[in-house]
Amino acid sequence: MEYIYAPDLKTLGQIAARWVAREIILCPSVVLGLPTGSTPVGMYDYLVRLGQEGLVSFAQVRTFNLDEYVGLPPSHPQSYATFMQEHFWDKVDLRAGSTEIPRGDAPDLAIECLRYERRIREVGGIDLQILGLGQNGHIGFNEPSHNLEIKTHVVDLTEKTIQGNARFFPDISKVPKKAITMGIGSIMQARKVLLLVSGEAKKEILSKTLYGPVSTEVPASILQLHSNLMVISDIRVKED
Ligand code: F6R
Repeated sequence: MEYIYAPDLKTLGQIAARWVAREIILCPSVVLGLPTGSTPVGMYDYLVRLGQEGLVSFAQVRTFNLDEYVGLPPSHPQSYATFMQEHFWDKVDLRAGSTEIPRGDAPDLAIECLRYERRIREVGGIDLQILGLGQNGHIGFNEPSHNLEIKTHVVDLTEKTIQGNARFFPDISKVPKKAITMGIGSIMQARKVLLLVSGEAKKEILSKTLYGPVSTEVPASILQLHSNLMVISDIRVKED
């Protein structure tokens, strides 16, 4: 594991964006796995800037988002598809059809999960998977549990995750209770993983993720077993 300390969230975003840009320059047809949430916003902003300055082109890049709320169509203001359009997809030169995200409004969610998993395999898997870290140790929406799902699946969001997401909705009753998420296997099969973590409130969970026992109760701790993990964080954590 490589750990890069960033003094603040803005710098974290810039370091992450430069890292992603470097991967694109080395392999213009790179397949990226992408997160939503507050932490990666600065990374997307800076990637957009690098694109506008002509330093990187996304024309051959393909992207797969980690997750989407069940029940929301892509056009819903709080869908992750809308988030991605506003922060990234519509602001860079990604080609139409090169961005993928599970359909939370698919008529048959089980078939949608299979379709998404197959799409990832069809393009040869994810080269660089970027992740945020949930307060409860989730990655994607792989929530703490007795067992973790390997492939893309439908998940019941925990109360903690629903509360954490309520800030984006008019009131907590409107927060979807289910999501489609890539599974732990889909994430671990990525050739490289970049974990972005910000804020003192995540210090304890980051410490458990990186240095605690590998446990399904802290889904992100499985990343300790990934052979190419880079962490960028504005939190200082050390092994006890
Ligand atoms: C979002 C996702 C989640 C978030 C995590 C952290 O697509 O997969 O795992 O990355 O909940 O969210 P923030 O960055 O808002 O703290």
